[in-house]
Amino acid sequence: MAEQLIITGTSKEDKYKELLPQLEALVSSESDLIANLANISAALHESMKFFWVGFYLVKGDELVLGPFQGPIACTRIRMGKGVCGTVWQEKKVLIVPDVNEFPGHIACSTGSKSEIVLPAFKNNEVVMVLDVDSDQLNDFDKVDEQYLGQLMQIIERSL
Ligand code: SME
Repeated sequence: MAEQLIITGTSKEDKYKELLPQLEALVSSESDLIANLANISAALHESMKFFWVGFYLVKGDELVLGPFQGPIACTRIRMGKGVCGTVWQEKKVLIVPDVNEFPGHIACSTGSKSEIVLPAFKNNEVVMVLDVDSDQLNDFDKVDEQYLGQLMQIIERSL
């Protein structure tokens, strides 16, 4: 596998378009889930310059912190709690333009201002969520939802 990402685009959409095939190649050449989630976190952090990006994995009745890049974060989230726990419960993507306006938002870092969280499914059950945080308000939109959604499908196919 390539050991280096090649991203030449400058717009968010162009970067995602270049990044996704490279992530797909990365995932298809490695069978270990944690290794893949670790590389995906690093790739997203490096190429998209996200403030925090990482995975929470469903373990029993909690989400537990998995591979991530960025400041240290809360390790356990209950179903229905915060943005991540709400995505797990409602089984759908959430875009939060201003985390201070989201009731029950879990502030792992005061630097985080907006957030997108996407679920990944196995047998129709959520098995993990991808959480991406920005230090800017209103930083996520349908473009992020579309391309990060495609990334979740790549991950799901590897499960
Ligand atoms: N803000 C998230 C918690 C995880 S951190 O942002 C890394 C939430 O409300 O679920």
